[in-house]
Amino acid sequence: MTDSASLFAPLAAGALSLPNRIVMAPLTRARSTRDHVPTPRMATYYAQRASAGLIISEATGISPQGLGWPYAPGLWNAAQVEAWKPITAAVHEAGGRIVAQLWHMGRVVHSSVTGEQPVSSSATTAPDHAHTYEGNQPYEQARPLGVEEIPGLLEDYRKAARNALEAGFDGVEIHGANGYLIDQFLRDGTNARTDDYGGSIENRARLLFEVVNAVVGVVGADRTGLRLSPNGDAQGVIDSNPEPLFAYVATELEKIGLAYLHLRESRPGGTFRPSDQAPLAPVIRKHFTGALILNGDYTADRAAATVAAGEADAIAFGRPFIANPDLVSRIRTGAPLNAPNPSTFYSQGDEGYTDYPVAVPA
Ligand code: FNR
Repeated sequence: MTDSASLFAPLAAGALSLPNRIVMAPLTRARSTRDHVPTPRMATYYAQRASAGLIISEATGISPQGLGWPYAPGLWNAAQVEAWKPITAAVHEAGGRIVAQLWHMGRVVHSSVTGEQPVSSSATTAPDHAHTYEGNQPYEQARPLGVEEIPGLLEDYRKAARNALEAGFDGVEIHGANGYLIDQFLRDGTNARTDDYGGSIENRARLLFEVVNAVVGVVGADRTGLRLSPNGDAQGVIDSNPEPLFAYVATELEKIGLAYLHLRESRPGGTFRPSDQAPLAPVIRKHFTGALILNGDYTADRAAATVAAGEADAIAFGRPFIANPDLVSRIRTGAPLNAPNPSTFYSQGDEGYTDYPVAVPA
């Protein structure tokens, strides 16, 4: 077993004080109501995982237009805010910290869930199928978001950020990764616009920075994080030359002083969206000196080695946290990990959600 000490040094990420560097990655689990209101079992689930240095919530919709995932939670109305309150309180009572991941899915929603045609940077159709209440359905062609609609979109982000603070979250993470709306603007495989939001790198990154500045204006830079997935293919979203794009993004983010930057990276042979496109963390690290969280197929040993080498400040674990509520203590003691059961990732009950066992102390 590698020495895991590097993962147990505290970390200041802006105003967030992490007691360790083992972060719970955002994980959609579909345990909210059909109206996208969180449920009490989510308080149990998150509190069970409160020993994480930081919990990043499952992706949470900023608006009905942006949320097409069945039973995923939102943060646009009062019922949702009230239902999040006992969840953040349970995490805090258990000694944890939790930020809300703010989500607009762009083209990968289905009109049967949102009630309207998807919006995106351009008129494209995502590959594959949307999850809907009626089962899987082919994605629909998106319509390009009008420039005149962007102030309303930014207002949705501001409102969701305000709601997150009211609901008791310690901050927010903007979801700019994984082929959702912001990523659909960033990368040239999906952005064919000829206005101020398309073409050059600066133009494709414009929406991202408008969203970041809108959220920072509400929450403060020191409680705002951002997730990106700079390399590989995410739901058909890809860039022909990602290195200069993300070097520019990192350079501009450096000026804002975010709490942290969080990268989900594809890797060759990985088990989550593998890709041969080179990971860009080393490039981004040169331009962005704030706290850097890396994610994607990490074992405890690789995580400890990555942090010890100074390549990242913390590591986010996704599937290991689904199956191991006590992941932090298992990493500390070297206890074996439970395996996650993918058939209950998005099911609605307690099974595969709050019933994974903790390790019995030796
Ligand atoms: C995810 N992932 C994800 N990412 C994100 O930014 N927001 C989300 O809501 C989700 N939801 C989600 C659900 C499930 C069931 C899985 C398996 C994954 C991606 C996740 O955060 C992480 O990047 C991947 O799981 C890879 O990390 P691990 O699992 O290899 O540590």
